[in-house]
Amino acid sequence: MPDIDGINEAKQYYTDVPQTSKRFFLKGSDSLDWGMKNRLGRIFNPVSGKTVMLAIDHGYFQGPTTGLERIDLNILPLEPYADTLMLTRGILRSIIPPDTQKSIVLRVSGGTSILKELSNEALALDIEDAVRLNASAMAVQVFIGGECEKETIINMTKMVDMGMRCGIPTLAVTAVGKNMVRDAKYLRLATRICAELGAQYIKTYYVPEDFETVTAACPVPIVIAGGQKMPELDALKMASQAIQAGAAGVDMGRNIFQSASPVAMIQAVRAVVHDNESPEKAFDLYNTLKK
Ligand code: R5P
Repeated sequence: MPDIDGINEAKQYYTDVPQTSKRFFLKGSDSLDWGMKNRLGRIFNPVSGKTVMLAIDHGYFQGPTTGLERIDLNILPLEPYADTLMLTRGILRSIIPPDTQKSIVLRVSGGTSILKELSNEALALDIEDAVRLNASAMAVQVFIGGECEKETIINMTKMVDMGMRCGIPTLAVTAVGKNMVRDAKYLRLATRICAELGAQYIKTYYVPEDFETVTAACPVPIVIAGGQKMPELDALKMASQAIQAGAAGVDMGRNIFQSASPVAMIQAVRAVVHDNESPEKAFDLYNTLKK
């Protein structure tokens, strides 16, 4: 029923209170459009400013990786503990329940396998499908110094352009070729190039020496990949050191789903990433939950 004249006088316009707007919490992201910020805010926890992305996209170039043979059995139990699932559209549509409340980061580059040159990737998904799937970001592999360096950089910039049109952020995944030195100097180069060319956030590897210079020189958030399986305490130490050195989270796969107790491990990783828990205490948590 519409207001009658007399009741209008009861309205309160707070004319003496200026409207405020708070800066967006993520590094280098304040000038992005509302939709992009909203999607990034579904990946990164606005309270801690960090994310635990569960990376399960390995099958796009290496098939049924150990621990990912049955995503319905091995991975769905981990879903409640992840902030984000990073995966291919094939696994998303075939296995992940559409009523999941978790944000989705879609793998959008591909076209190669472990049998051939890995850097020879193309874009393997139309952005319309990312929109249909309600993706919160799109992940593109970039091989700086690799055989197909230029093509993979252009893959990324195309995705950034398409993402800007639809409000979907692009995650640049810096892949380090087998024969390349993995050090802070290389990672500064790779991450900075991706950020300069428009990626809204970057995934890279952690190195113990000078990693803080990698995050400092990159104007947008960096998350670290887990890499090959290592003992749980070592993986927790790596995650903790990366966070202390300025990383905004992890995009971890094998060190979670290949753990002796993946459900315990992902909760221990969360403690390190979101609660700044020490690796030793997080490892105690892992052992307790494992029982
Ligand atoms: C690698 O290309 C895959 O895209 C993974 O997403 C990435 O390596 C992170 O997984 P992990 O922690 O197993 O290294």
